[in-house]
Amino acid sequence: MTTYEMQQEIIRLKKEKNICILVHAYQTHDIWEVADYIGDSFGLTQQAARSGADTFIMCGVRFMAETVKMLSPAKRVLLSSADAGCPMAEQMDKDMILQFRKEHPDHKVVAYINTTASLKTVCDVCVTSSSAVKIVKALPDKKLLFIPDCNLGNWVREQVPEKEIMLMQGGCPTHARITGKEAEAAKAAHPEALLLVHPECRPEVTALADYAGSTTGIMSYAEKSDAKEFIIGTETSIVQHLQFACPDKRFYPLSKDCVCHNMRLTTLADVYDCVLGRGGAEIEMDAETIAQARRPIDEMLAYGG
Ligand code: 13P
Ligand code: SF4
Repeated sequence: MTTYEMQQEIIRLKKEKNICILVHAYQTHDIWEVADYIGDSFGLTQQAARSGADTFIMCGVRFMAETVKMLSPAKRVLLSSADAGCPMAEQMDKDMILQFRKEHPDHKVVAYINTTASLKTVCDVCVTSSSAVKIVKALPDKKLLFIPDCNLGNWVREQVPEKEIMLMQGGCPTHARITGKEAEAAKAAHPEALLLVHPECRPEVTALADYAGSTTGIMSYAEKSDAKEFIIGTETSIVQHLQFACPDKRFYPLSKDCVCHNMRLTTLADVYDCVLGRGGAEIEMDAETIAQARRPIDEMLAYGG
């Protein structure tokens, strides 16, 4: 079977079975081409809340599939590759946050959506990289704890100085691999290029950037810009997607090490197995966890929508 034939079969079967294929921007381009929706974490969440499909296939990582299940508990939700998890989502547990809440009863807990459903049950509001600044600004509370990504939290803190934001030590191992030295070297090698980075990068990298934003934010900035060359400071898949979107522009990865092995687990054949009904991991969650973990997600959609 060729890539094209497999894609055609996936498209035929998803229509026949009323399946919606949600694809995070870090997936490979052959998977993008069979998607009903491609986007960043916020866009995927909004889409899951709106779709009339019977089944969702989430091509991304586990917390994203859990979010879809919470928003559509009656629907069948499959994670395309059972082992695809986000290491950052596992970095903090409920007890740490419950202890913090006891010691700081005047603080609201803002959770990056890259957290487990269990952790979300003890948080007040979720945010994504594209909605964090807007939501933190809009919250009526001044004192906040931002978890788990301290790089993203620090970036939000810089843009919303009127809030008192505490951070905990956590973060994305993929983006944290990029060093300030690499950013300086890439700028020196491509002096005409603009540097576009994800705010999960270290502060010394973000400080050198011409633009910081979510995966879709980076893509639309590059697409709309009059500039012709860009250094891309996020998962390397975005370089290839931009090369397809803007064949007249040049894109360079900021670091060849910025590869998320979990996002790369899913193959087109995994998606094929899911639509055939012989693959993927079905997401199962109890009603109480859904009810509690959904509150901060609904808050996020209400503030950020
Ligand atoms: P966004 O989807 O919000 O850009 O975040 C990137 C990411 O690391 C997802 O896991
Ligand atoms: Fe998690 Fe980072 Fe991979 Fe996103 S890129 S899934 S935050 S490890």
